[in-house]
Amino acid sequence: MTLSSQSPSSHSWSAADYAANAHFVPALGQPVLDLLQPQPGERILDLGCGDGILAEKLVALGVKVVGIDNSPDMIAAARLREIDARMMDARSLTFENEFDAVFSNAALHWVKDDPDAPVVGAFRALVAGGRFVGELGGHGCVSAIAVALMTTLERRGIPDAASWIPWYFPTVDEYETRLRRAGFVPQSVQLLPRPTLLPTGMRGWLETFANPFCAALAQNERDDFLDEVTAILKPVLCDSQGRWTADYMRLRFAAIKT
Ligand code: BEZ
Repeated sequence: MTLSSQSPSSHSWSAADYAANAHFVPALGQPVLDLLQPQPGERILDLGCGDGILAEKLVALGVKVVGIDNSPDMIAAARLREIDARMMDARSLTFENEFDAVFSNAALHWVKDDPDAPVVGAFRALVAGGRFVGELGGHGCVSAIAVALMTTLERRGIPDAASWIPWYFPTVDEYETRLRRAGFVPQSVQLLPRPTLLPTGMRGWLETFANPFCAALAQNERDDFLDEVTAILKPVLCDSQGRWTADYMRLRFAAIKT
């Protein structure tokens, strides 16, 4: 799911690749939907709706959903599910006092350059008493993968490899502070380890999520780069049966606009 243009490079999304390599992302979104406790008739904003799989679940519960995303391909896929999906950058939400809840799954970690902006926008979008419930990658998420990506860039002479990390993975304290600073009263903020089986292996995951690192390299170097990253990770993230597990950490939160 995509929310903002990334620095130093843009991440472009294909709804078809996402469905093939990352369908587990919305499939594992049920606990955050449970925390949301959506009620029939509520107006809910899905911040970073992607291809609309979770928005569709909300609609089935009788919720009036608006989804936003800034990938044209994802918006088109969400509209095929008949979601009211709109192109919008998470850093500049335009809603005011319109929603009973703002919901977000696996999207806010893409707003590395201004993580406060979607929180402030969510606050503005909610009616008084409204809730902001979401899940994003948390501190330490995919750390083995990130280290392998950085090391492999460094081996190719790319300076300051850490600057190519496109993700924002906050600690509990950090995110709680952001929520409070925007005016929210946090109800729960938890960091949860969630080792995640990768249905199309490490290569499928890297091709879906690690484009921003590839942008540091010429097009003809990228396949070798991803092969090398995969080889580095094999001893730690691939089991004896050839199954890959990514070292995910999730930050799950619920907060109220009082
Ligand atoms: C996710 O979509 O959950 C995700 C994407 C990139 C890195 C880690 C997590």
